[in-house]
Amino acid sequence: MDDKATRGDDRAVSEGTPSGGELSSFPQAGRERMILPQPINALGTGAPNVEKAMLERMSPQRVFMMGDNPALQRMPKAPKLLDFFRLRFNEITFRHLLQSAKSALDAGQDEKIVIACLLHDISNGALLRTEHGYWSAQVVAPYVSEEVAWAIRHHQALRYFADESVGFKYPDAYNQFFGPDYEPPEYIQQAHREARAHRWYMTSRLITIYDTYSFQEGWSVDPEVLTDVIGRNFKQPKEGLGFDGSPSAHMWRTMIWPNNFL
Ligand SMILES: [Fe+2]
Ligand SMILES: [Fe+2]
Repeated sequence: MDDKATRGDDRAVSEGTPSGGELSSFPQAGRERMILPQPINALGTGAPNVEKAMLERMSPQRVFMMGDNPALQRMPKAPKLLDFFRLRFNEITFRHLLQSAKSALDAGQDEKIVIACLLHDISNGALLRTEHGYWSAQVVAPYVSEEVAWAIRHHQALRYFADESVGFKYPDAYNQFFGPDYEPPEYIQQAHREARAHRWYMTSRLITIYDTYSFQEGWSVDPEVLTDVIGRNFKQPKEGLGFDGSPSAHMWRTMIWPNNFL
């Protein structure tokens, strides 16, 4: 039985692959399942587009992956927010979001700030980094207040602009990330101006404050300390995230099955 998965670069995906008996319970059992990298991943990187070559390799025994990937931890049938944290998010985002939320909690901030901090970079966990404030806001919008989603959306722009009144300086990290002469584009400057004039400005600004102090190695926060805040401020659908028909359900499903061909 040739039951393995391959990525676009043709290496077999084997890390965490369960034993043969278990494999039969995964979809497409008995076939090699090819994983085509997402188009946006390769664009502009010089990596070759492998779609055509993979289509040519297709056969009755070699198909494109659909459904649970044995190399990933299986998600529960009705996944909740913290399941995505534990089973899908990369380590840096996992730690950063929990540290941000815990810092806001320890500072005695309102729960709306704590939940906004917990979710502000959620798209970086297992979806997309580019335009992360906008993606993160859209992912969670059906489940949080309008104010929290607005604050998450605008934190992306506010990070580029100091606000001395609350002690927020342009992040040193951004000088390192982008170079000291980087200027944010016009649409980001526009978003900053709009946010400044908005009644929810400080909700978004506070995200950027706790953001700054939340890249600490060696400080692990147990997600369970946030269970009550999540319970009161994030409407978890009984069907599970991804299966409730919300406008962002497909984004949660994309994180459950990130390797699906279509
Ligand atoms: Fe961010
Ligand atoms: Fe952040």
